[in-house]
Amino acid sequence: MSVLSPERVVAFGPGRVNLIGEHTDYNDGLSMPFAIERGVTVTATPADRFVVDARDFGERDEFSEPERADGWRAFARGMVAELRAAGFDVAPAHLEIAGDLPQGSGLSSSAALESALALALLGRVPEDLKALAQLCSRVENDWVGAETGLLDQLASLMSEAEHVLRIDFRSLEVRPFPLDLGGWTLVTVESGATHSHAGSGYNQRRAECRAACQALGIASLRDADDLSALDGTLLKRARHVVSENARVDATAAALDAHDLEAVGRLLDASHASLRDDYEASVPEVEATVERCKAAGAAGARMVGGGFGGSVLALLPPGVVRPAGALTVAPHGPARLL
Ligand code: GLA
Repeated sequence: MSVLSPERVVAFGPGRVNLIGEHTDYNDGLSMPFAIERGVTVTATPADRFVVDARDFGERDEFSEPERADGWRAFARGMVAELRAAGFDVAPAHLEIAGDLPQGSGLSSSAALESALALALLGRVPEDLKALAQLCSRVENDWVGAETGLLDQLASLMSEAEHVLRIDFRSLEVRPFPLDLGGWTLVTVESGATHSHAGSGYNQRRAECRAACQALGIASLRDADDLSALDGTLLKRARHVVSENARVDATAAALDAHDLEAVGRLLDASHASLRDDYEASVPEVEATVERCKAAGAAGARMVGGGFGGSVLALLPPGVVRPAGALTVAPHGPARLL
């Protein structure tokens, strides 16, 4: 709550980086994300009807009852509708949205916006953050049209400073895991190719994973061990998911052993799998990975849904950051300011 007016609520939702475990969330698998310092801020003041100002676009939306809309407008409308459907009392408000997270950069501006909108409209941080993450995800699935999983929302709502979250999407266990990098640093570098999940190959990859499960006669790729019944595209997609889950466990072991060279190799292996088996890369991302490796990164990989977005690179001590790189480290979760 602001000291200026008790009715004005300012909420911040952070973006996220995923250390490893990509395209595993909707396959009941494992990931290791963390929230970063940058994100989206939503300021809410009571009003007669909903007025939503997207400061970064210079655009406005107005509504009394939330009806369907395209683009950024779907987020606030969907959030009001989903919060009310979940039994929360949501009063009309003037919402002002601003942020310092590049859109479509793979750092989850969407989840940052969702968590900031939710806290601003509620005026508090609810107790059940997993339920709130699922609600935010419904906004993205049912209103925005992107079939994304829970990775970004859990990271934005539950992150802890100096830790990655080790998430098991089957049990929804979220376990903070210390990220002690010593003198090493993690950076993100934008590839220059922006993406939108609703319009990319993301939904198609999900359909392919479902088809692989059907062919294997299993409910989720988490249960897959023998892939010999698959071939072609479905074999590649399943192989990525199974190997990526194993890389999350291997990364946890390498972090435990303070073996950052090994973490770097795992990031490289994750990228190769996303590029060759999941086919989620684009030339701009490949060029950015090459640039990071040439600059001396111990490992570099695309981060997030792929098909554009940013590259995450692990830099040993003394390596100069590639041009345009943003240093990222685990920060706290979405909160009221
Ligand atoms: C996007 C989605 C997440 C997750 C990642 C890939 O960020 O929003 O749910 O599937 O892609 O790991």
